[in-house]
Amino acid sequence: MLKQYTEYKIICLDALTYAGNMETLSDVLDNPQFMFVKGDIADQVIVFSLFEQEKPDIVVNFAAESHVDRSIDNPRIFLETNIIGTQVLMDACRKYGIKRFHQVSTDEVYGDLPLDRPDLFFTEDTPLHTSSPYSASKASADLLVLAYYRTFKLPVTISRCSNNYGPYQFPEKLIPLMITRALADQPLPVYGNGENVRDWLYVEDHCSAIDLIIHKGREGEVYNIGGHNEKTNLEVVKTILRVLNKPESLITYVKDRPGHDLRYAIDPSKIHNELGWLPATKFDEGIKKTIEWYLDNKPWWEHIVNGEYRDYYDKMYSIK
Ligand code: DAU
Repeated sequence: MLKQYTEYKIICLDALTYAGNMETLSDVLDNPQFMFVKGDIADQVIVFSLFEQEKPDIVVNFAAESHVDRSIDNPRIFLETNIIGTQVLMDACRKYGIKRFHQVSTDEVYGDLPLDRPDLFFTEDTPLHTSSPYSASKASADLLVLAYYRTFKLPVTISRCSNNYGPYQFPEKLIPLMITRALADQPLPVYGNGENVRDWLYVEDHCSAIDLIIHKGREGEVYNIGGHNEKTNLEVVKTILRVLNKPESLITYVKDRPGHDLRYAIDPSKIHNELGWLPATKFDEGIKKTIEWYLDNKPWWEHIVNGEYRDYYDKMYSIK
């Protein structure tokens, strides 16, 4: 966004919980068009004073507790960040007046599709039908966003994306977890039989879709983002092993995730027809680029694995 819109000022509000990593922002911290603020979107005092000071015109809510397994372990924080955080942000948007509030949501709000019906896809009209505390919290937030549109006429849009992958992804998600573990010759834990299907979306394609929606999408509308890059988990893991030249014997089948969704698959016709968006990166190309990125940026993920990334914020801010 900074490269594309040289006149924009971008403010990043992030609580820097376990998956937040200031090293990801190191290239832009000195850019005068960029500002970082450490804070929780559910903290009304911080959010309102930031809006008072900066008067943003477009607000994109990327902030979320996003990991399904963690939501099974401890649901509460998911409700606080994903639902209350969205409410606080939207109340600030109402008070200070914004041109657009965009909610980054997920295809998980639709539940899952059966494995034996490859003809079925999620459209924006698919009923909400959630499986995990995580997806239930995201669906709740989506309903709240649509309620603010109807009741308060807040100019909102929602996007529901499929599984993201690419550079800078925290190595708890399938692809970076498998890359970093394979590089260390550690066992690769595949849940259940590995036949679950995900529709993989390269992160820059997700970003280009959000860019289009916030500038050209219609208020009050939901847009699905994804596009026919479906793979079983086993196919993904085997591709990673092949590219890294590591043996398949690293694959270890472990206990299945409770309530594990079988298949996600997006029908992107609406965003394609209305805004001309299609994903530019096919999975075979995107996975190679991603693996190369993790090979070229070992310090970034090694600092996560050894915990050093948690010191980076203090280091950066004590220098200034
Ligand atoms: O579809 C969008 C969603 O994609 C986002 O809304 C979520 O925030 C994001 O976490 C992701 O959810 P998934 O549960 O699909 O992603 P995850 O990377 O955790 O798992 C992908 C698949 O791989 C899933 O079927 C579970 C499986 N898996 C995952 C891990 C971490 C394994 O077999 N082994 C693992 O160690």
